[in-house]
Amino acid sequence: MVRLPGSKQKPPRLAVICVALLGFGLIADYLWASSPRFGASNFSDAGISLTSRIIPRTNGDASVKSEGNPDVKQGAEKDGSGKEKGSEKDKKKYANVPERFLSATFADLPAPLLDWKKMAPSPVPRLDGAAIQIKNLLFVFAGYGTIDYVHSHVDIYNFTDNTWGGRFDMPKEMAHSHLGMVTDGRYIYVVTGQYGPQCRGPTAHTFVLDTETKQWRDMPPLPVPRYAPATQLWRGRLHVMGGSKENRHTPGVEHWSLAVKDGKALETEWRTEIPIPRGGPHRACVVVDDRLYVIGGQEGDFMAKPGSPIFKCSRRNEVVFGDVYMLDDEMKWKVLPSMPKPDSHIEFAWALVNNSIVIIGGTTDKHPITKKMVLVGEIFQFNLNNLKWSVIGKLPFRVKTTLVGFWDGHIYFTSGQRDKGPDDPAPKKVIGEMWRTKLKLEP
Ligand SMILES: *[C@@H]1O[C@H](CO)[C@@H](O)[C@H](O)[C@H]1NC(C)=O
Ligand SMILES: *[C@@H]1O[C@H](CO)[C@@H](O)[C@H](O)[C@H]1NC(C)=O
Ligand SMILES: *[C@@H]1O[C@H](CO)[C@@H](O)[C@H](O)[C@H]1NC(C)=O
Repeated sequence: MVRLPGSKQKPPRLAVICVALLGFGLIADYLWASSPRFGASNFSDAGISLTSRIIPRTNGDASVKSEGNPDVKQGAEKDGSGKEKGSEKDKKKYANVPERFLSATFADLPAPLLDWKKMAPSPVPRLDGAAIQIKNLLFVFAGYGTIDYVHSHVDIYNFTDNTWGGRFDMPKEMAHSHLGMVTDGRYIYVVTGQYGPQCRGPTAHTFVLDTETKQWRDMPPLPVPRYAPATQLWRGRLHVMGGSKENRHTPGVEHWSLAVKDGKALETEWRTEIPIPRGGPHRACVVVDDRLYVIGGQEGDFMAKPGSPIFKCSRRNEVVFGDVYMLDDEMKWKVLPSMPKPDSHIEFAWALVNNSIVIIGGTTDKHPITKKMVLVGEIFQFNLNNLKWSVIGKLPFRVKTTLVGFWDGHIYFTSGQRDKGPDDPAPKKVIGEMWRTKLKLEP
């Protein structure tokens, strides 16, 4: 596969703009944080609407194969003025009207184009759903259909014949989004999460599903409920850590574990484990070769509007990060190289392929001027042989909380919330689409 050189390097001009923006950004941040008008929004249009102030970048060389997600390099090189870049005069101009030059797509990274194929769509669209792959089957759970409606069933995708089927119900008490979920290859452990639509409260209820018999059983509830905690099976114990606390916003750093075997809890109470250095929801959590990795995520999340009878979601400040933490037999957290950019909403957006963790999409830092949420349109590879990150491809569009599987040389993703279009990375449509592309990783 062709890998673009220097996927992390940014054009020098962008650096100049960034510096110029800093002052403005700080002021804007203050305004945003202190004004209720700017603080409140919802999922369909997360953030204030200042789109008209952004000059859309010309996208003459849009990719045919991938609907042409523009990358930052192209965006920064063409400003439409035709003038020489970087002159003193220009710098002054940028400082006065910096937002004019910061494309909404500035966060996109250069990445190879891939040949994506659209497969059969999921029976329902889903946002913040959960998914677990067992052999050739992808079990897809719960999620929002709309912000006011949540699913309470499981759909199954069969990678062998590329069809959906086998729908069955979840227990009535099971959370509908922000779940922690992991499998041992037959049993799927399901912990905590948000119960109901909008920004309702969480439940500590915990379940196990036997995927062979489709039977559900109760497990000891988590000591306190969490939203989207990092969840994995490691050394015979079910580990649950981080997530957001009961108000949906405050990051939790607590870490618990429970001994489990063949779908049964071997203990009646969760054990307290070493807290995670940085709390928060929506992170990938992977165990490989007896090591536990926690990748990306965020601090802060939408919260229920105080007094709202429907627990209406209102936006709060979020800090997205690309931190990577690892636990090994020393039982002390180690910090590993960060992701190529901050990335959250990736809890079920990863697959383990040839000793690499492959991550699809997510959300990154909000736009510094418009404050809109910015989705991620790349695939990342974390090679565990050398602990190096790379950007290995572009998605057909940017997407968050997508659900990922890998089968027979292909990486698949379905569901989540996609962007408004190639030039607007803000979240829009909740999707059920399923896409796949052939993956070839460098060893
Ligand atoms: C979200 O906000 C948009 C415009 O701000 C509004 O049209 C829409 O009805 C809102 N949706 C929900 C679910 O509140
Ligand atoms: C998946 O599809 C294959 C090929 O059609 C079929 O043999 C298999 O039984 C299917 N698996 C399930 C669980 O439906
Ligand atoms: C994984 O490694 C095997 C063996 O080297 C190779 O044949 C295969 O193509 C690799 N898979 C990917 C997705 O790169």
